[in-house]
Amino acid sequence: MRAVVLAITGASGAIYATRTLAAFLERGCRVELVVSEYGRRLLRDELGDGAAIDRLMDFLVAHYGEDVRKGSYTLHSNKDLGATIASGSQDCEGMVIVPCSMKTLAGVAHGLSRNLVERAADVMLKERRPLIVVPRETPMSLPQLKNMVLCAEAGAMMLPAMPAFYQMPETLDDLADFMAGKILSALGFKHELYPAWKG
Ligand SMILES: Cc1cc2nc3c(=O)[nH]c(=O)nc-3n(C[C@H](O)[C@H](O)[C@H](O)COP(=O)(O)O)c2cc1C
Repeated sequence: MRAVVLAITGASGAIYATRTLAAFLERGCRVELVVSEYGRRLLRDELGDGAAIDRLMDFLVAHYGEDVRKGSYTLHSNKDLGATIASGSQDCEGMVIVPCSMKTLAGVAHGLSRNLVERAADVMLKERRPLIVVPRETPMSLPQLKNMVLCAEAGAMMLPAMPAFYQMPETLDDLADFMAGKILSALGFKHELYPAWKG
């Protein structure tokens, strides 16, 4: 069973997070899940009370189907710096922060480890394991742009929440599928979340 860390922070695009989580679960993954306080708020603000963190599995089943039950997730408190994923001895092969707020981006860029999201990301960087950061903001300030460069220089993959339109999306779910597919590809998962470009 493959194991990954998934962090949800308070940037717009909660649907990217739920689609990505569902895609990992459909593939039978074990997901170590951390959701910041504002990430929890964004789930409800953008997807409704049905996506509240304590009802998330029911939401995933309702929206993405029973296959999400093939995997499992463990929800960690963002305040718990003693969680398994705060240590390099944990066995997760990679981590994605989706969506990633500019605040969390800054914390990762500067190695602050102020909470579990930042610490788990720091662990991925120091252990040289894949860290996928999905920032969302527009326009971006110079400090925000520089923080993306710092993360990239430290070894993270910057995978901005920029869905494409060449696959002719018809729904918001099509756009979310595209972003989730990019994240899965970055972590070495095969998928058919969007059609391959045929040229
Ligand atoms: C509805 C809503 C939408 C937001 N969208 C963004 C966003 O797209 N990008 C961003 O960087 N911050 C956004 N924020 C602000 C962050 O949530 C805020 O900076 C928060 O402190 C981030 O904390 P976290 O990184 O611990 O989740 C938004 C806040 C709210 C309430």
